[in-house]
Order: sequence, then structure tokens, then C-alpha cells
Amino acid sequence: MALDPYFEPGDGGDNAFTVEAPKIKFGPGSLSEIGDDAKALGMTRVAFYTDPTVAKLEPVAIATKSLKAAGIDFEIYDETEVEPTDRSFKAGTAFATEGGFDGFVSVGGGSVMDTAKASNLYSTYPDDFLAYVNAPIGEAKPVPGPLKPHIACPTTFGTASECTGIAVFDLLEMEAKTGIAHARLRPQLGILDPTALATLPRAIVAANGFDVFSHAVESLTARPFSHRPAPEDSTKRPLGQGANPYSDLACQEAIRLIGANIIDAVNEADNAATYEPLMFAGMLAGIGFGNAGCHLPHCMSYAVAGLVRDYTAPGWPSNQPMVPHGISVIVNAPAVFRYTGPACPERHMKAAEAMGADVEGAALEDAGNILADRVIDMMRQTGIPNGLRGVGYSEDDLEALTDRAFPQKRLLDNSPLPPDRDRLLGLFRDALSYW
Ligand SMILES: NC(=O)c1ccc[n+]([C@@H]2O[C@H](COP(=O)([O-])OP(=O)(O)OC[C@H]3O[C@@H](n4cnc5c(N)ncnc54)[C@H](O)[C@@H]3O)[C@@H](O)[C@H]2O)c1
Ligand SMILES: [Fe+2]
Repeated sequence: MALDPYFEPGDGGDNAFTVEAPKIKFGPGSLSEIGDDAKALGMTRVAFYTDPTVAKLEPVAIATKSLKAAGIDFEIYDETEVEPTDRSFKAGTAFATEGGFDGFVSVGGGSVMDTAKASNLYSTYPDDFLAYVNAPIGEAKPVPGPLKPHIACPTTFGTASECTGIAVFDLLEMEAKTGIAHARLRPQLGILDPTALATLPRAIVAANGFDVFSHAVESLTARPFSHRPAPEDSTKRPLGQGANPYSDLACQEAIRLIGANIIDAVNEADNAATYEPLMFAGMLAGIGFGNAGCHLPHCMSYAVAGLVRDYTAPGWPSNQPMVPHGISVIVNAPAVFRYTGPACPERHMKAAEAMGADVEGAALEDAGNILADRVIDMMRQTGIPNGLRGVGYSEDDLEALTDRAFPQKRLLDNSPLPPDRDRLLGLFRDALSYW
């Protein structure tokens, strides 16, 4: 393809990409319009999902006031677990099943939006819990038909769950993070009101910012769509179709916005000017990874989150051991960029420059290292833990981490340089500490 040499046709590779664009409303104050939006989607009785912290905050007050004004009946479910488990998805489903609802609203972070998606699915098309869960852990059964309308309203900015057909959870019996992925899980509307970020603790701002950054860099540096094998059924291209010209645009701008704002957002006493660019960056990266797909940092993150022993994250309310998603991703990223740099150096250099690194006169062969160094510098300035050791792992855990990450073929194959098992173990070793 003439758009970029990166998309030159590969042997047996695909010759087309698709563009899935979520419906989004973006702007300060937009949450107060949710009543009209719910009405327009035909909702009369709403299952309203949030979590115990967000339930007490302004966005829930604004959304419930607007629903009331529109004459829409609703019931609030505020028991969503942060970083949800199958137990939490099942409890959310029981609420939906008993309530006789015709619509869903979620106001909160990725944990809340994902719980609402899963509850909508299992209450509308009940089945064994593992039926819809991604293979090989579950059966990856497609969602049988349309779900009830869902309006997702993020109060964080990292996950872009409002843009995706993905619901992530921790499967307790396997100590593994996995998910459910199907286009029908995508909410009908996302309402992104940047003022919702005003109360977000700074540690969560940092973790969200690096999650966005990693979505964008992973999508930009993913294997080109033209080198992914063409699908057997031309109507069924995978969600993660590889880097493509559409997601490139969104991702480069997302990286630039994170680079320009994340340090101030975490460290400045008054960070209000950063809410809008951060939330917009999160949305752009969501559109980017929703079309291109992530690769190694996210692949490794599911092992890092799933095998947690006693790490608790300062700034998060839970005293349960947990490595928050954004942290579990970014601790792997510098090691990955040093490894993938040579596979598409121009793209790593573009990302480093967009992130604010000085790339004047730099040699292309150093691109992966320049990007890694820039990320490490920003991790240090924003209080992110120092690699895997910083979240409680040591050399003794490398085998177990690799065992968890290596089966995630979809994410490994989307890397510009898919590692074998030994190399993946080496990446975990390289990610143990950075300074
Ligand atoms: N569905 C997807 O596409 C997708 C993508 C990436 C991650 N995820 C998942 O999303 C979850 C993480 O979501 P997250 O990072 O958005 O955070 P979260 O929903 O887990 O919330 C983190 C904490 O922030 C609090 N919080 C949220 N908004 C707040 C606000 N405005 N002010 C004060 N506190 C606030 C919450 O109560 C919670 O304690 C993980 O389970 C992750 O695996 C999903
Ligand atoms: Fe993520």
C-alpha cells in the first residue's frame, strides 16, 4: 500500500483493514445530557452500575439527576469490585437478572464499565460462565444476538472500555486475567466528560496515562495488517487486525497528548488543564487499539496482574493485593521496546519523539532504546514502581510469569517480532528493574 512502506503486502497477508468507530459524545458537561441519550435509545428502566467510591462522587449525582429529569426509572448497583473477578461479574449479573431492566448505564472506571458489559451479556443470554470467555480458558462462544443498550461514562481515562467490545476480569480459580471479547459488547454510546477526572487520585492518573501510552505505542508498532494472514471468512477480520493507517493517526496524537500532559497531571497542584487532553488521548488510543490490537506489554501484563502475591498499590482504596492494570502494563514496556525497536525503528522513533524525547541526530538503530529511556524517565517522574521487582516479583517468578503469558497467542502474534518462550522469559528478566 502506498500510504506507508510499513504496509507493503506480505506473503499471504491481508489486503484490507476495517474501521470500527464507536459512538462517542465528548465534552465538559456532557454527562448531564445522559437522560436524553437514554430516552433516545429507548431505555425506560435502567440498571445503573458504579462502584462504592464513585457512587459518592459528582458524576453519579449528575447522571442520576439527568435520568430522573428525563423520567427514566433506574436502580443503582454500587458493589462492583475494582479490577473485577468472575465473582464480581456473577454478582452484577444477578442484579441485572432480577431487576427486569431494558437498558444499562455505567459510571466509573474500566472495572465498572466491564462489569456492566458482562452483566448485560449474561442476563440477556444466560449460559455457563466460561461459554463466552476467551479461548483457551473459555469456549469463546460468540454473543448470540444484540444486547440491551448500554451507555458507558468513564470517570478514568485509561481503559477506553467505552470504545471496546472487551470485558476484562480475573478468573479466581486460575489466578489469571482474561476477558470476553465480541463486537456486540461494545456500548451503544460513550459519554466522555473530562470534568469527571477532577477527583481522580494522582497515582491512578499516572497508571491510566501509561496504559493509554502503551495502547498507542503497541498499536503503532504492531505487526502491519498486511502481514497478518488473510481471514478465511472475509466478513470476520479479528478485532486486533494489526497496525493500519487509521489507527496510526489516532495513536500518534494520543502519544503526543500523553507526553505533553502526564507529568503536570500527576505533579502540579492544579492539574485541571490536563483533564481534557488526557481524556481525549484515552479515547484516541482506544480507537487505535480497538482497530490494531495490543501486543507484548499487555500480553505480559495479564501474568503480572494475575500472579500478584502481596503487592498493594498506594492510592487505590483496596487493601487486597493487586497490581493495577496500567502499572502491570508499563513495567514491561521499556524491556519490550528495546527488543521490538529493530523490527520497526521508524515507528519507535516516532513514538519517542511524540513522547517528548530529543531525537535530533539520533540513529534509527537506537530507536527502541531511546523510547525505552524516555519512558523510564517519565515513570520515575510520576512515581511508577521500578519494574517487576517494584511490584513484588524476583528471578524466582520468571518461569511462572512466562507460563502465564506464553499461551496468549493472539497478543504474541500481533507483535512486530513475536518472541519464542525463551525470549519471552528474557523480556520478563529485562523488566525486573530499570534504575
Ligand atoms: N474493557 C477494556 O477494553 C479494558 C481495557 C483495559 C483495561 N481494562 C480493565 O479495566 C480495569 C481498570 O480500570 P481503570 O483503570 O479505569 O480503573 P478502575 O475502574 O479499576 O478504578 C480504579 C480506582 O479509581 C476509583 N475512581 C474511578 N474514577 C474515579 C474518580 N473520578 N475519582 C476518584 N476515584 C475514582 C475507583 O473507585 C477505583 O478505586 C481493570 O480491570 C482492567 O483490566 C479493560
Ligand atoms: Fe490497557
